[in-house]
Amino acid sequence: MSEVDAIETKDLVKKYGEFIALNSISFNVKQGERFGLLGPNGAGKTTTIKILTGLVPPTSGTAIVAGYDVVKETKKVKERIGWVASEVILDDDLNAWENLEIQAKLQGVSDWEKRAKDLLDYFGLSQFIKRQVGKYSTGMRKKLEIASALLNSPEIIFMDEPTIGLDVNTRSLLWNTIRGVNKEFGVSVLLTTHYMEEADSLCDRIAIINQGKIAAIGTPDELKSKVGGEIVEIEVTNPIDTGGIRSMENVIDVSQNQNIVRIKAKKVERLLAELPRVIDFNNVKSLRVEKPSLDTVFLELTGRKIQEEETDFRKFYMTIRRARQ
Ligand SMILES: Nc1ncnc2c1ncn2[C@@H]1O[C@H](COP(=O)(O)OP(=O)(O)O)[C@@H](O)[C@H]1O
Ligand SMILES: [Mg+2]
Repeated sequence: MSEVDAIETKDLVKKYGEFIALNSISFNVKQGERFGLLGPNGAGKTTTIKILTGLVPPTSGTAIVAGYDVVKETKKVKERIGWVASEVILDDDLNAWENLEIQAKLQGVSDWEKRAKDLLDYFGLSQFIKRQVGKYSTGMRKKLEIASALLNSPEIIFMDEPTIGLDVNTRSLLWNTIRGVNKEFGVSVLLTTHYMEEADSLCDRIAIINQGKIAAIGTPDELKSKVGGEIVEIEVTNPIDTGGIRSMENVIDVSQNQNIVRIKAKKVERLLAELPRVIDFNNVKSLRVEKPSLDTVFLELTGRKIQEEETDFRKFYMTIRRARQ
């Protein structure tokens, strides 16, 4: 069976002057797949989406989206895709129906009314059709944004950081919405995120992107198995001699930082069975098993933690607040 991929990119490069925002990116998204670009701020996620949606041209390389070249056949691509941007695209003063009407006109979708009604029904927004969007809850707003991206019956939708800044409940509600839309409407989804749990829970496959390069591509499980081990963290009352642990056949690595001993092992179950032979459990305060997470993967691949940006974000707002006082 020959099936065309939803997205096919080859050696995409984007330069802004001398600065290389994308440094030869290649990946494919299969039809019906939920694919995630996971990376910190400035990694090149939005730039990738802008190229794939025909908003900016690549400096070099090719991208085929829904079977068409984004540079040579931009119009055909745009007709077949939907885009949910992280910036607000709805007009607060208008109601849901008026917002969808504007969207339909912008995209040149004729016969949009039936589709709009069906979408509002699907998202449970039908009874709020006349309410000003400014009075919607965040969850309702997000649903309406997705509805408007689906108005032209796209084959692929692009979501740039769909849950950035949302609280935990709204975020998990939105995850379900995205899964539902993917199944119900048969659309492929390409989303970007800097939240590990989001990529892990939502995506069939993930490309980890850092400083304009793809560091790894795979299913969440494949990526986690790259860590090559599971971690046991032991809190001890008094620091121990880790030599005994190090010499165990199953152990890949051991480190001790004050009273915390971190052991990376191939099979954690076997390690736990054998550990009492080499350490005195009277000296053990607590023990924690850590299955590899995408955090561990990102750290091992790039040498940094992805969540650092989150702290900067808070600092940024604190600076603004201070400046206003
Ligand atoms: N129009 C532009 N001009 C110059 N630099 C840009 C422009 N757009 C993005 N960049 C730079 O390219 C890099 C990637 O940006 P972006 O794709 O927005 O990253 P992300 O979405 O992953 O946070 C960043 O360093 C950013 O500052
Ligand atoms: Mg971005």
